[in-house]
Amino acid sequence: MEEKKKTIRDIQKMKGKKRIVAITSYDYPTAKIVDETGVDIILVGDSLGMVVLGYPSTLQVSMNEMLIHTKAVCNANPKALVVSDMPFMSYEYSKEKAIINASRFLRIGSDAVKLEGGSEYKEIIKGIVNSGIPVMGHIGLTPQKHKQIGGYRLLGKSYSEANEILNDALQLEDSGIFSLVIEYTTNEVAKKITEKISIPTICIGSGPYCDGQIMVINDLLGLGDYSPEFAKKYVDLKSIIREAILNYKSEVENGKFPEKYWSMKSDEDKKKFMEET
Ligand code: KIV
Repeated sequence: MEEKKKTIRDIQKMKGKKRIVAITSYDYPTAKIVDETGVDIILVGDSLGMVVLGYPSTLQVSMNEMLIHTKAVCNANPKALVVSDMPFMSYEYSKEKAIINASRFLRIGSDAVKLEGGSEYKEIIKGIVNSGIPVMGHIGLTPQKHKQIGGYRLLGKSYSEANEILNDALQLEDSGIFSLVIEYTTNEVAKKITEKISIPTICIGSGPYCDGQIMVINDLLGLGDYSPEFAKKYVDLKSIIREAILNYKSEVENGKFPEKYWSMKSDEDKKKFMEET
């Protein structure tokens, strides 16, 4: 039987029953391969900026870039739920601007948006959700705020910081998000939040107690230049790609590739063309 397209309800029903598998993708061919594996969620993350576009952080990523890469992923018609990251300054300014920007992702085929931040975005998130756009929250380390947080650091080490993150989670649940990414917090914070809220939590670098896990695909495939300490490399694709290109280079240089392919139809034409022109 053909796999059905996943909805936010399917993801929500997985809480406490089956662990949710999420992974980022940024283009059509990768999204096709990823979707064939049957993962639950494909995130078009703004990590795009760092892992694909070569920017120093996610702060440089524009709405247009997120839209182009979301479109490429959606063109693969994934059965997985497609979530698009709202880039820096596309939702902070006003509720109206946030709703308009969020709607642009759904118009081109995305199923939901994700935005970073805590209770300070409650009203903005409510506005987006009330417009019929599913929102995934993102707390703990929020890379768009790395300058304010003081770098890409582990959060929730002290009681007060842990409590603040827990409070953010509760407020965001109240604002109507359908799931919550918890990035680079202590295990205790992720565990407590997962127990306290009724929507699924999806961890990255926060330990094993969440309802699901997300990874940046470039880290998992060994393509990342600056993978975080919590990333797990499942294959060293960089070496495999380098090896293939070196083989190609050497075959071209040595005349081994390409071989002779197609010849003209008749020997007479061939002779005439080769010898008389
Ligand atoms: O942009 C991204 O890839 C993300 C994940 C790290 C959750 O936000």
